Amino acid sequence: MGGKFIVFEGVEGCGKTSQMQLCAAWLKNLGISVILTREPGGTELGVHLRRLLLEKKEDQPVAEVTELLLYAADRAQHVAQELVPNLAAGKYVLCDRYVDSTIAYQGYGRGLDMNLIQQLNQIATGGLTSDITIWLDVDVEIGLARKRGDAVGLDRIEQETIAFHRRVQQGYIDLAASSPSRIVRVDGSLSKEAVHKNIQKFLSLYLKDLP
Ligand code: TMP
Repeated sequence: MGGKFIVFEGVEGCGKTSQMQLCAAWLKNLGISVILTREPGGTELGVHLRRLLLEKKEDQPVAEVTELLLYAADRAQHVAQELVPNLAAGKYVLCDRYVDSTIAYQGYGRGLDMNLIQQLNQIATGGLTSDITIWLDVDVEIGLARKRGDAVGLDRIEQETIAFHRRVQQGYIDLAASSPSRIVRVDGSLSKEAVHKNIQKFLSLYLKDLP
């Protein structure tokens, strides 16, 4: 495939969304064709799944395996409908979360079976992996405090216990240690501008074929 698949990952409030936008603007300025997308919710079907996954219904909690399958369904549709065609067309695809989120949240956070998660990730992606994954590393408390400051309120997953979010963070730490050539750690606790500069610096080196 001709394009580049760049994924942004991290715990709640790590700053992915604003960093992706800054990064897209920078790449577009260089004349690169960029697509911004996300999981869950990168397709029309996925938008419905995202709402089902993130709204909190006290009386009808989502079973953990249901949650896992819905994230996998969202991903399968996203890969087929958005990721593969755009990468084949030579675009740079910037994606907010991908398979590492399922390992961190459903694997480390929920404690679901890692083999099952790997199998579902394989089925959903057909083997499509990111060219590079930028992990915005921020303390769980700092990230959640940023989220609490948002006007929209916390969603079903953000409302999980601090212990859950710490397990998710451990997931990212372990993933980065086990895949050093695919996952790059960027300090997400710095100012928005400083984080963007660091991402820019890294990508300029990494994507040596930038025009
Ligand atoms: P965000 O896109 O606004 O960060 O929110 C998506 C939420 O869904 C976030 O809490 C992480 C969670 N999530 C999972 O638990 N598993 C997954 O596989 C993905 C993609 C997201």
